[in-house]
Amino acid sequence: MYDVTEIRRDFPILSREVNGKPLVYLDNGASAQKPQVVIDAMTRAYSEEYANVHRGLHYLSNLATEKYESTRGVIAKFLGVKDENQIVMNTGTTMGINLVAYGWAMPRFEAGDEIILSVMEHHANIVPWHFLRERQGVVIKWVDVDSTGHLDPQAVIDAMGPKTKLVAVTHLSNVLGTVVDVKPICKAARERGIATLIDGSQSAVHMPVTVDDIGCDFYAITGHKLYGPSGSGAIYIAQERLAEMQPFIGGGDMIREVHKDEITWNDPPMKFEAGTPGIVQQIGLGVALDYMMGLGMDNVAAHETKLRDYARTKLDGLNWLQVQGTTPDKAALFSFTLDGAAHAHDISTILDKKGVAVRAGQHCTGPLMDHLGLTATCRASFGLYNTEEEVDKLVDALELAHDLFA
Ligand code: ALA
Repeated sequence: MYDVTEIRRDFPILSREVNGKPLVYLDNGASAQKPQVVIDAMTRAYSEEYANVHRGLHYLSNLATEKYESTRGVIAKFLGVKDENQIVMNTGTTMGINLVAYGWAMPRFEAGDEIILSVMEHHANIVPWHFLRERQGVVIKWVDVDSTGHLDPQAVIDAMGPKTKLVAVTHLSNVLGTVVDVKPICKAARERGIATLIDGSQSAVHMPVTVDDIGCDFYAITGHKLYGPSGSGAIYIAQERLAEMQPFIGGGDMIREVHKDEITWNDPPMKFEAGTPGIVQQIGLGVALDYMMGLGMDNVAAHETKLRDYARTKLDGLNWLQVQGTTPDKAALFSFTLDGAAHAHDISTILDKKGVAVRAGQHCTGPLMDHLGLTATCRASFGLYNTEEEVDKLVDALELAHDLFA
C-alpha cells in the first residue's frame, strides 16, 4: 500500500518549518527533495568508500568504481533499457542534449536541414538547437499546442519533411503539465529516417517510462528532479546513434590511447564521459532510483493522479485564477495566473509567507510564454510525497493572495 505519511518520513526536510509554518513543498518541477537513503548513501560514499573511479588498482578505487558503475544498470532498469551500455551518465538533461547537439547533430547537419520542436520545450531543449541555427543555418520548425496545451502527435508528424533530421520534444511539459504521446511520433520519425530526442526531465519523475517501447533515439533525464543529487543524470542513446556520434568533451577516461600525432577513443558509453565524473552524485542517483522503484512507479503515478484530480477540482473552484494547460491527461503540475495586476513573483512571495514553496517566472520557456501571451506564471508542481492537505494549504494561501491584491 502507498502510505504517503510513511513516505514523508523518508524525507527529512519535509518536517521543517519555513516562515514559522510547516513547509508545503510544491516546487518539485524545479528540483525534488531527497530521501534519507540518498543522503546516507552519499555520506557513506564520502566517509567510507571514496576514491576516483576507473583509474586505481587499489581497494577503494575498485569499490567506488563498482558503486558508481552499478548506477548505470539501475538507470537502465529504471528507464526500461535492456543494454546498460546505451546509458551515458552525465550531469543532467542540459548536458545530455548538448552532447547530442555537439556530438551527433553538428557534424552531420547542413544548412537547410530541419529540427522540429514543440512550442512548449524548456530552454535546455531549445538553446542547443539555436546554436545549430545560428552557426550552421539549420532551420527550427515549431509545432504549436492547442488551447488546452495538448500536443497532437499528428501535428508533429505532419511537420516532418524531406529535410527533417531530428524531432526533439518534451515527454512532459514543465509549465503546462501536458504529457506528450511520444510513441507515435518516434514510430513515424523512424519510418522516415528521422532521429528523435525525448526530454524526459519531468516525465520520468511521475510515471513509468519504458524507453525500449517508446522507440526514441535519445532520452534525457536529470537526477535532481528524480529525488537524487544535483549534478547527476543520464541520457539513453540508441546503438546506431552511439556508433555515429563523435566525442564532445575531451579528456581522461574517454580515450583509449593518446600519442603526439594520434588518438583513439574508448568504447561507448565511456567515449562520452570525459574526466572525473560526479562519482558520489551518480551513486546517490542510483539509490534514489532504487527508492522510486521500491515504491513502484505505477503507485507513484496513481498517487499523483489522485492529487492532480483533487487539485484540479479545488483550483477550478477559484474563478479568479486561470490554470494554463487544461488537457485532461496532464501531470499534477499547475501553472496559473490571478486576475488583476499581481505579478507571479508577488503571489509566490505571499505563498512563501504561508510556507508554500512554488516557482514563479518564465520557467525557462520563452517560446511558450510568447505563445500564451504571458510574461510569467506561478507554478505548483507536486511530487510523490505531497498530500491533499497540502493542496488545501495552497488554496488557502492563494485566497489570501487574492484578497490582498483584489
Ligand atoms: N527545469 C526546471 C523547472 O522547470 C528548473 O523549474
